[in-house]
Amino acid sequence: MTDQYAVFGNPIAHSKSPQIHRWFAEQTQQDLSYQPILAPEEDFQGSAEAFFNQGGQGANVTVPFKLDALVFAEKLSPRARRAGAVNTLQKGKNEVIYGDNTDGAGLVRDLQGHLQLNLNNQRVLLVGAGGAARGVVEPLLEAGVASLKIANRTPEKAQQLVQIFHGLQPRAQVTACNWAGLEGQQFDLVINATSASLSGDLPPLPAGLFATGATAYDMMYAARPTPFMQWAEKQGAEQISDGLGMLVEQAAEAFFLWRQVRPETSGVLQRLRQEIQAG
Ligand code: ATR
Repeated sequence: MTDQYAVFGNPIAHSKSPQIHRWFAEQTQQDLSYQPILAPEEDFQGSAEAFFNQGGQGANVTVPFKLDALVFAEKLSPRARRAGAVNTLQKGKNEVIYGDNTDGAGLVRDLQGHLQLNLNNQRVLLVGAGGAARGVVEPLLEAGVASLKIANRTPEKAQQLVQIFHGLQPRAQVTACNWAGLEGQQFDLVINATSASLSGDLPPLPAGLFATGATAYDMMYAARPTPFMQWAEKQGAEQISDGLGMLVEQAAEAFFLWRQVRPETSGVLQRLRQEIQAG
């Protein structure tokens, strides 16, 4: 029987995940179906339970259900526990529902693979301290960065992330600050993990943040460059990327978890980019 997978979200109609996973399945000749499921905002659990009871094998989970999925999962991977969020569910042995988080691994694979960045010893600025930021701290530290500064509009939230992750990689310095604390500092990589781009906003970052040859990365994606990407260009960042590669890579990580087959991602990313730009 064809194995069933799904992505849960609200809204879900514009999710690219079904397309990505269908391309992965085609490419790797896996017999599976992958459907978008619109779960009611107050009842992720009911919706997910129904899916798994009817034979679902695995699911991705997107906004606003990543915390609900953390609660729903019966067993968590260490990285999902530390990220405080689950984006991938899998029905395992004995019908146990396993929760993982592939977002951070997806970001790091995009940075190291498609963007060819060597993260080792880099000075990294993470802008934002919400769920999206929290999900990527651990893999960035594991990639060997020299320092990770977390800056946020509400600095206490950045400080909380430092508390959760400091000491995980003793070699890396993990610190928090507000916008003013960034004055005069320089970074090799600046990642925008705020949701500001969604409303066409830009965090009020000071000028001069990009070191020579630095990269700017917005975890959001859109047909046109986001306000953060436009600002980074004016500020002289050498390489500028949106988060479409992260989306494809987090999907590939989930696919690998479910199917033990690693799909090729470059062609999928290219096709997706073309589709998005064509509108
Ligand atoms: P997500 O899961 O997408 O991270 P979230 O947990 O609501 O969503 O976090 C949103 C992040 O974007 C937070 O870091 C938020 O800053 P605060 O913690 O101060 O709320 C940040 N953010 C949202 N809109 C912003 C804006 N216009 N300017 C700067 N930061 C913004």
